[in-house]
Amino acid sequence: MTKKTEIPVDRLEELHRRHARAEEGGGRERKDRQHREGKLSARERIQLLLDEGSFEELDKLVRHRCHNFGMQHNVIDGDGFITGHGLIHGRQVFVFAQDFTVFGGSLSEANAQKIVKIMDLALKTGAPLIGLNDSGGARIQEGVVSLAGYADIFLRNTLASGVIPQISAIMGPCAGGAVYSPALTDFVFMVDHTSHMFVTGPDVIKTVTHEDVTKEELGGAMTHNATSGVAQFLAADDADCLRTIRELLTFLPQNNLDGVPPVPTKDPEDRADSELDRLIPTESNKPYDIKDVIVRVVDDGHFFELAEHFARNIVIGFGRMSGETVGIVANQPAHLAGCLDIDSSTKAARFVRFCDAFEIPILTFEDVPGFLPGTAQEFGGIIRHGAKLLYAYAEATVPKITVITRKAYGGAYCVMGSKHVRTDINFAYPTAEIAVMGPEGAVNILYRRELQDPENAEDARQAKIEEYRNRFANPFVAAERGYIDDVIEPRETRSRVIRALRMLANKADTMPRKKHGNIPL
Ligand code: HXC
Repeated sequence: MTKKTEIPVDRLEELHRRHARAEEGGGRERKDRQHREGKLSARERIQLLLDEGSFEELDKLVRHRCHNFGMQHNVIDGDGFITGHGLIHGRQVFVFAQDFTVFGGSLSEANAQKIVKIMDLALKTGAPLIGLNDSGGARIQEGVVSLAGYADIFLRNTLASGVIPQISAIMGPCAGGAVYSPALTDFVFMVDHTSHMFVTGPDVIKTVTHEDVTKEELGGAMTHNATSGVAQFLAADDADCLRTIRELLTFLPQNNLDGVPPVPTKDPEDRADSELDRLIPTESNKPYDIKDVIVRVVDDGHFFELAEHFARNIVIGFGRMSGETVGIVANQPAHLAGCLDIDSSTKAARFVRFCDAFEIPILTFEDVPGFLPGTAQEFGGIIRHGAKLLYAYAEATVPKITVITRKAYGGAYCVMGSKHVRTDINFAYPTAEIAVMGPEGAVNILYRRELQDPENAEDARQAKIEEYRNRFANPFVAAERGYIDDVIEPRETRSRVIRALRMLANKADTMPRKKHGNIPL
């Protein structure tokens, strides 16, 4: 007869006690403060983020090893970071959440190792990584070992870039060098009013530059969504933030070798939309909202926009075509006439590179009068930044489809997914104007001398403009050369794009052998 063994009661009690201590975090009072400030606790956040009951916590028993400043008497199991894995819409993800109630969510050597562990697992298993940040930064009592922990995380953020999607939510403070982990990830969410990000805070700024700035102005959610471009999502509150992360993941693959699961739709592939025929104004300077075009083309009118508050002259986001994720890049004539400038170039370039890294086809809607003129742009390096977008498009080997809705002028024609940068299928609407520059500018240069005579100058100018427009500002010259594969009626955009995507489903294209390119950063 085998001897019956039992787990010693004291061991079980200790386990339960330690688990309970870890779950308690920094205690009721600090948790209440978190709630009063409109923030959820780290555990509540994880619960809302993941499918119900799917969270598997790791390293709940890890403790810090710090003996400075009496820290040896202040030990909390888990050390304030909650790490583990779970499911979102049934798909594996790894997650960490910083618990601000434990030493201000500060990063210790021990909890840096917890994050490193799940990052390594995420990379090995090919699953997205989500970080919920709410932290006072490096744990001051630990000194350099905390800094080392950050650097270990930065390294893994970099190694994982382009392999697994990495998502950061800023749900409280995120200051100092700590900002660089989110900055290295693919998508940054911020919660309105309760999240702040800055390298140096208002007090340091006041001392060094004598500027007065509030932390909301300096690093609030709107600042980073609209002004700096550091964040791509502005959430109303924690719940909104976590819900939107769940939705974002439905558009993404698990990793760079996996496809995105299609989302079946009842929206017919051949749905024609006659409203599209009327949407693009024939007057080439009249604004319209390119998003009105996008929602009429994608499945069920659903467009998931990214970075909607930043560089509004370009629109980026995900949609689905016949169930498959596509990345959409579109000039926005309703803002700055859709010109390309520094911010819109970097915004779109990063998105194109994300799509390319994760094998998501790119659909471009083009209506661009050119690069934005001005000393601010030139001094700011529009040449360098515009080159990023050109580089990103040229480098991308995923299926690429471009639809020119109206203007495609100058260098911007080349940049925005032209045939010459390896775009597979290029369509143009009959309203398209493809030329070196707009008729007015061209006539001023070509006929400067003739038009100097004040007598009849305006009539003569108009006649020349008309002549130029007829000769160049149309899609047919480009189509005659095969730079445009077909001039299509706007109403048929959806069916033509879906057929092109289907044709390109097995596309394989390569780059010359190299370690990596040298994108003009
Ligand atoms: C240890 C910290 C801490 C930290 C906060 N706490 N930050 N403990 N290390 N970095 C503790 C506080 O002592 C306090 O403990 C609790 O967390 C809550 O902090 P409060 O100050 O009461 O909260 P609040 O008023 O909301 O202010 C939050 C804060 C502030 C803005 C984050 O705490 C702050 O400025 N902290 C320091 C931020 C900072 O400079 N960090 C270093 C950045 S440099 P009790 O026990 O009272 O609850 C950095 C380098 C990274 O991170 C380098 C990477 C290369």
